[in-house]
Amino acid sequence: MKLTFEDYLYEIYGPMTQSRLKDSAMYSLMAPGKRIRPLLLLAVLKDYSCNPEIGLDAAAALEMVHTYSLIHDDLPAMDDDDYRRGRLTNHKMYDEATAILAGDALLTQAFAQITRSQLSNDVKIQLIDELASSCGGEGMILGQIRDIEAENTPIGWDQLLMIYLLKTGKLLSSALVMGAIIAGKSQDVSLWRRIGENLGLAFQIQDDILDVTKTTEELGKTANSDVANHKSTAITHLGLKAAKEKMNLIYQDVLEDLDSLKLNGSEVRSIIELCSHRQI
Ligand code: IPE
Ligand code: IPE
Ligand code: MG
Ligand code: MG
Ligand code: MG
Repeated sequence: MKLTFEDYLYEIYGPMTQSRLKDSAMYSLMAPGKRIRPLLLLAVLKDYSCNPEIGLDAAAALEMVHTYSLIHDDLPAMDDDDYRRGRLTNHKMYDEATAILAGDALLTQAFAQITRSQLSNDVKIQLIDELASSCGGEGMILGQIRDIEAENTPIGWDQLLMIYLLKTGKLLSSALVMGAIIAGKSQDVSLWRRIGENLGLAFQIQDDILDVTKTTEELGKTANSDVANHKSTAITHLGLKAAKEKMNLIYQDVLEDLDSLKLNGSEVRSIIELCSHRQI
């Protein structure tokens, strides 16, 4: 499935008008990311015994939004990082203006991609609503501004978890929810949302752990970025050992919730298990 998805991304972006903008957007989109959000959406479809191909446009939309968020997250005005996905960050390879515009283009294209899919108009509207809500000013972007604000103001553990829910949990939960919407399983949406939000908390705590325990070379992105930016993280709040314990407990909750869905397959479970053991 991974190969097919990479090919699909290339098919979407390859034919676009040749420009520095296209080069810069493709530079980050086609870089070796883990593709967790699209893989989760496609896995939900498989676990409901649906053909995953019907979800490829929505999966591509998720990866475009996620890639845009990373390009902007790395900018000097935000986390000011030099490496991402094993390469120089977009603004280091191109320049800041191009990186901002490449992010804008990816975000916009994501919504076009959903409208051009073969799904029914009713499903498309639900998907657009879901994605816009999760990545917008009440979701991921709200999390990003709170994350930046917290560099200068001390925050409590509950506030930190709220930031993680927003900046990371919202898009991850949309991956699962969008899969359920495409599969026509609206009755399961609220449980998928809870699973995705908790997955986001565990995933972000793990991201904090990796930031302080791995090298830039191993991660493919700048290590110790959080310390350099005076971020509040799971490590500054709990210390490394307790942060790992907390992460494992949340992953366990996620897997228990997943069991209560009683799915036909275990595709989502295996991706979540892979996530829980990830080293990058
Ligand atoms: C990085 O996401 C940003 C976070 C939300 C922690 P990923 O760890 O999924 O990054 P890629 O897509 O594999 O590069
Ligand atoms: C970013 O969190 C989450 C996004 C919405 C992009 P981080 O700033 O910790 O992500 P990395 O460590 O740069 O990938
Ligand atoms: Mg950040
Ligand atoms: Mg960052
Ligand atoms: Mg990080």
